[in-house]
Amino acid sequence: MKIAICPGSFDPITIGHMDLAARAAAIFDKVILCVMVNGEKNPMFSLAERLELARAATARLANVEAAACDGLLADFAQSSGACALVKGVRGASDLDWEIQMAQINRDLYPKLDTVFLPARPEHLHVSSTLVREMLRYDRPAAPYIPPETEELLRRIRQGKVR
Ligand code: PNS
Repeated sequence: MKIAICPGSFDPITIGHMDLAARAAAIFDKVILCVMVNGEKNPMFSLAERLELARAATARLANVEAAACDGLLADFAQSSGACALVKGVRGASDLDWEIQMAQINRDLYPKLDTVFLPARPEHLHVSSTLVREMLRYDRPAAPYIPPETEELLRRIRQGKVR
């Protein structure tokens, strides 16, 4: 069975992430959307909240499961039996950094390769950063987030969950 991982901060998960996961799921037997810690970022949502949102969003995709990991991605890939990471790229500026990460991850676990999928043109402006800005300024994030996460996101923001 070919298992791929879609890793990211998912702070929070967007329709762009979901498109990537669905496309990866059409190529691989199983996809693990792994919510991770990016040491360079200070997230708006906790790892547990981001996982809960990712679980709600991916529930409808039969061969996609959501997981969380606060360790090294290469270690998680090895222990999950994954052969590939799937990353979305929005343009050339994404690619420089992503190629470095792909090389580091392969140094750490040589059986792990990275597959890049181009973002759909209609999603080029969609990012977690954009969603967080909408939330901060009380503007609708609905066009950019999976519909399954709208209510949960609202409750998390209101502090009613946890
Ligand atoms: O959505 P992001 O923030 O661009 O995702 C980056 C992420 C979380 C995939 C990356 O920071 C990561 O892999 N973090 C886990 C720790 C790790 O394995 N780092 C790579 C080796 S330096």
